[in-house]
Amino acid sequence: MHHFERIDGALHAEGVSLEALAGAVGTPVYVYSTATLTRHYGLLREAADAHRAVLGDALIAFAVKANANLSVLATLARLGCGADTVSEGEIRRALKAGVPGDRIVFSGVGKTDAELAFAIDAGVRQINIESAVELDRLIAVAAGRGASPEIAIRVNPDVGAGGHAKITTGGATDKFGVPFADAPALYARAAASPHVTPVGLACHIGSQITTLEPLEAAFRALRGMTLDLRARGLTVSRLDLGGGLGVPYHGQSDLPSIADYVAMAAGVLEGLEVEAAFEPGRLLAANAGVLLSRVIQINERGDGRRFAVLDAGMNDLMRPALYDAFHDLVPVRPREGESVTYDLVGPICESTDVFARDRPSSPLQAGDLVAFMGAGAYGAVLASEYNSRPLVPEVLVDGDRWAVVRARPGYDEMFEREPTAAWL
Ligand code: LLP
Repeated sequence: MHHFERIDGALHAEGVSLEALAGAVGTPVYVYSTATLTRHYGLLREAADAHRAVLGDALIAFAVKANANLSVLATLARLGCGADTVSEGEIRRALKAGVPGDRIVFSGVGKTDAELAFAIDAGVRQINIESAVELDRLIAVAAGRGASPEIAIRVNPDVGAGGHAKITTGGATDKFGVPFADAPALYARAAASPHVTPVGLACHIGSQITTLEPLEAAFRALRGMTLDLRARGLTVSRLDLGGGLGVPYHGQSDLPSIADYVAMAAGVLEGLEVEAAFEPGRLLAANAGVLLSRVIQINERGDGRRFAVLDAGMNDLMRPALYDAFHDLVPVRPREGESVTYDLVGPICESTDVFARDRPSSPLQAGDLVAFMGAGAYGAVLASEYNSRPLVPEVLVDGDRWAVVRARPGYDEMFEREPTAAWL
């Protein structure tokens, strides 16, 4: 569900006209809805609280990689949301947005010593360890600081899942997590060190997962490992269940609901007496954002193929080029007339700069505004200045008010970051 709806025929973000916004800020631009972020967080919070007896005071840690905008993070932080981070930059963003250190989880497959030290000093809640060598490095870094940070071991349950091969992380050949068979020895080694405090296990098997079965299999594996570790006398008090639940990019109605997902998790963890954590990214942010763009021109070929050339390109929204991802395209003020089939393309000089082939739409003309739906997660964060296009700006809407929360850089600003070498 989201809060981008038509008022008097034109698409709005909550109470704000996208036509007016495009006029004021220009296009392309990402537009986020506070009400949608709030609703999604609220549904997850409510579901987790309903299962408090099993899940404890569950942490909801937004995966910052999905949308790292400081105002988006601050919106979630004010609701009590934590942050799942994978770099010093993300930890810094979460802290700056008002997420307390004790709600920040530090994950990631390649944390540098400097990042580990930063995370310890920032007092993060938990560092998720992904390999034996990383554990050794953390022990060394923590020893040097006289610290003993709380850690979880991220296991790889060998349950691969996700909307595309490129976003699956839990398979045995994926680079993520500690192989299941190695986890007990590693956990025991961590427990024996005075410089780390192992508190639990973590997993994350993939993204855009549209059925509960693989998630349930992974959670069951975590349960089994918890019992195994406890039988060895080790303490396991937290389970980090990762993110991964999919969203209805195609308007599907058969996706598991947030309530079903959490009920499933509670069913699996029943009786374990652990505190759970969820790390949703897409679930909270995807439908809370659109990418607003303008049609530059319609190129019509002799063979009947029609290209709608947009002012947004793959540098602004990478998902279709990277993962063949589907984003619905909605004209902001649809024209009357029979549906027409377009190839939706950007202006970038790359043949992958195609958002969709043969997409039916109401008739489009040069100058029309269109919105890519479901673009609030893994949209702006993946944008670049390829083809020397200024980085796409971001706007946050809240009811009738809006603010530019990331400005479009001017060309001088872009060039200032590139001092010309002194000898030129
Ligand atoms: N936790 C960890 C450890 C993760 O690696 C991820 C995402 C998440 C949580 C959040 O997953 P989500 O709830 O958003 O599925 N760029 C790709 C998605 C990459 C996901 C990477 N990891 C896309 O646009 O589809």
